[in-house]
Amino acid sequence: MSQHTDTSRGLCPVAYPFAGEHRLDLEDDYARARASGRLLRVTLPVGGDAWLATTYDQVRSVLTHPRMERGLANQPATPRLETALMTQQSVLALDGHEHARLRRAIAGAFSPRTARRIRPYLKAEADRLLDRFLARQQPADLMTAYTEPLASAAVRQLIGQPPGGNEDTDVVARVTALVQARETPTEAEARDQLEEAVDRLTRSRGLPPGLLRDLSLTRAIGTGLSTSQSTDIVFAVVLGGRTPAFFLPSAVLVLLQHPGHIKALRQHPHLWQKAVEELLRFIPVGLSGGFPRTATIPVDVAGHSVEAGETVLPAMIAANLDEHEFPRASELDFTRSQNPHLAFGAGPHRCPGAPLSRHLIEVSLRSLIDRAPALRLATLAPATWHTGRIVRALATLPVEW
Ligand code: HEM
Repeated sequence: MSQHTDTSRGLCPVAYPFAGEHRLDLEDDYARARASGRLLRVTLPVGGDAWLATTYDQVRSVLTHPRMERGLANQPATPRLETALMTQQSVLALDGHEHARLRRAIAGAFSPRTARRIRPYLKAEADRLLDRFLARQQPADLMTAYTEPLASAAVRQLIGQPPGGNEDTDVVARVTALVQARETPTEAEARDQLEEAVDRLTRSRGLPPGLLRDLSLTRAIGTGLSTSQSTDIVFAVVLGGRTPAFFLPSAVLVLLQHPGHIKALRQHPHLWQKAVEELLRFIPVGLSGGFPRTATIPVDVAGHSVEAGETVLPAMIAANLDEHEFPRASELDFTRSQNPHLAFGAGPHRCPGAPLSRHLIEVSLRSLIDRAPALRLATLAPATWHTGRIVRALATLPVEW
């Protein structure tokens, strides 16, 4: 990557995302952009040029500035990574009061208390899955048998999907169908089916604790969200809830590449909490910068002026490796004393799933390490990577034990 001067806006943009192949160590372009101390001018696959924020201060400032807005960034003419736009009512496409109202509506289901309530269930589910996995023939793919079903079980608990229901009211399956139908003629039909499922569930009684029950209770007293808004939030939560399924295999890979760290966790289990934070800082889940923001007024982003109407991508994956904030940032250090990483974002859209994710990450990795002390990468079947422009994640993780 090199950027040349141009007369109109100072710099010639570079093509973005940088990544050709997916891998855990970030492309050098991020370090170079950080070292320059400037926002980088980039050309996105759709809609033209934007700025890329890569230092910790720049990224934090973009995520927390009240006039860097998601709504304006989610418009047809705005530069972006993907062709598809979010629905205008999606939690990640709203700003200000409307956004705050939605966050309040889901706050109970995402609280630290709820996450603590779900933890024992996750532990039991991890053990059940491992019983089956460790009885299989070796090598076997850890993702399909362990990390994916466990991550999916966590989301089902959080939304309070009633167990044993039929396919029509399985909202996780309905969201998956809608994602698969995106930008095809059957998309509207898949959206209607999801909306019907959410409508039926939020009208029914006797739901288990969780998001669906919270939505049904406020609906019953007339203060709730509309069915369409409830559908949008359930969609966003189920989709966001897939992030641990992308994160966990990378975390297993990183641990297996650092056997000394596994040993330290066995000898000093009190390190687990810090280990989870450090893995969150160290492992990039996004392929590129996070969801773009557009300035509604001229905004100062850590000393760089962004004009009204310009779009900035906050690259949390690069900010988490900023040496100014994290000394020896490229080292995995489970004893790091300060770790204000941005893996869950910052500001109004900060990930509500953080408390549950922290429990899920610890429980799943800890159970795996305890139960499979000789776990290693399969010698004859290398791990493979996802393709696509959003996540930087493994597609398979064959292991032996
Ligand atoms: C390893 C685990 C996870 C990571 C690294 C992660 C990361 C993030 C990040 C960076 C954002 C902010 C995006 C932005 O501001 O542009 C976010 C938002 C969000 N996440 Fe997560 N997430 C994780 C797990 C979860 C889980 C388990 C759920 C749900 C069960 C979830 C649901 C959401 C939702 C609904 C939003 C949108 C919040 C809003 O717009 O106000 N996430 N996540």
